Amino acid sequence: MSLLKDTKATLPSSWYYDPAHFALELDVIWYRDWVCIGRQEDIPRSGDYFVVTIGTQQLIVTRGEEGQVRVYHNTCRHRGSRLCASDRGHFRNGRIVCPYHTWTYSIDGNLIATPARVETDDFHFQDYSLYDVHTDSWGGFLFINLGKEPRDSLIDFLGREAHELGNWPLADMVSVHQERKTVACNWKVFWENYNECYHCPRVHPELCKVVPVFKKGLQSYTEDPDWRPESDGDDGRARIASDLRTWTTDGRSSLPQIDGLTDAERKTGMAFASFTASMYVVGHSDYVRSVRLLPTGPESIEVTIDWLLMPGVKEAHPDAISHILELGRLVVAQDSAISETNQQGLKSMRHDHGVLVPQEYDLWKFHEWLRDRLLGSNSHND
Ligand code: FES
Ligand SMILES: [Fe+2]
Repeated sequence: MSLLKDTKATLPSSWYYDPAHFALELDVIWYRDWVCIGRQEDIPRSGDYFVVTIGTQQLIVTRGEEGQVRVYHNTCRHRGSRLCASDRGHFRNGRIVCPYHTWTYSIDGNLIATPARVETDDFHFQDYSLYDVHTDSWGGFLFINLGKEPRDSLIDFLGREAHELGNWPLADMVSVHQERKTVACNWKVFWENYNECYHCPRVHPELCKVVPVFKKGLQSYTEDPDWRPESDGDDGRARIASDLRTWTTDGRSSLPQIDGLTDAERKTGMAFASFTASMYVVGHSDYVRSVRLLPTGPESIEVTIDWLLMPGVKEAHPDAISHILELGRLVVAQDSAISETNQQGLKSMRHDHGVLVPQEYDLWKFHEWLRDRLLGSNSHND
């Protein structure tokens, strides 16, 4: 953490709505980086599928014959028809059938039938497998990479952030509740909002009661120039109020604590791992919450929240679930509404760009990262 010492300009306003700039960011970032698109348990059985949209690309995420996750472009190899119209479902008999001329693929992506096609010697089924997409998994989360060859392995891409949640058994956990919404803002607006707490006093009064340092518009105690550690080992991170048990509206929960966390992790009550720009995951002492975003247009994103518990906990505590949903649902609703409000002001002909205040240092880092990526795209067209 290091506060900004001088005035920094934000990105140009047009980058938040211009379709040509959006197309460039898709090419340089969203179609090259690892992007989280769901959870293993979203497709429990072989042949289950869901469809996901990233920018202009639509993908089918399914589970093959041997149980492995397979991801394909939602496009037929004949003349490019869309294959799946539903958001989710199950491929009956393990077959993906094109609605146009009935070309039929196995769930492992092989073309296996082309009914009523007049035969020719030069047609080889193996030449027309579905277009597949690189996929990998971390902590039960499914990631894809639309690059021809990913620049990094998933684990390198996730980097040190993944260690922030090293004590949470993410891969063993299951999503017990999922919510999805469309938010009318550019993806960077939502991501920037997540990266600062300057807005917290105004936008999140309920959250500020649970995490007192947020009331000061700061993300951690160390940002306060007067901060001194209260005790040995106080690293100055934001934490839930000392009399609360977990990150809920009243700080209470009757769910069991997750095994394997340190005392410090339980006391802090929240540990963040952020994977620019498709997801952040927050570990609490009794549950985990992930927030994912995907761009669907220059001024539109799809946001998905999952709440994760250890298997069997939901069934053993059915009445406790709604309570752990409340605060996350409220905070994301508040962030979504203010992101839409931010988006609506950006087209003023006078507002070429804005300005960052000291505690918006993470936005500056994000802007530097973005500018580097865009610059890199001009120098090598790989
Ligand atoms: S476009 Fe799919 S079978 Fe013709
Ligand atoms: Fe917020």
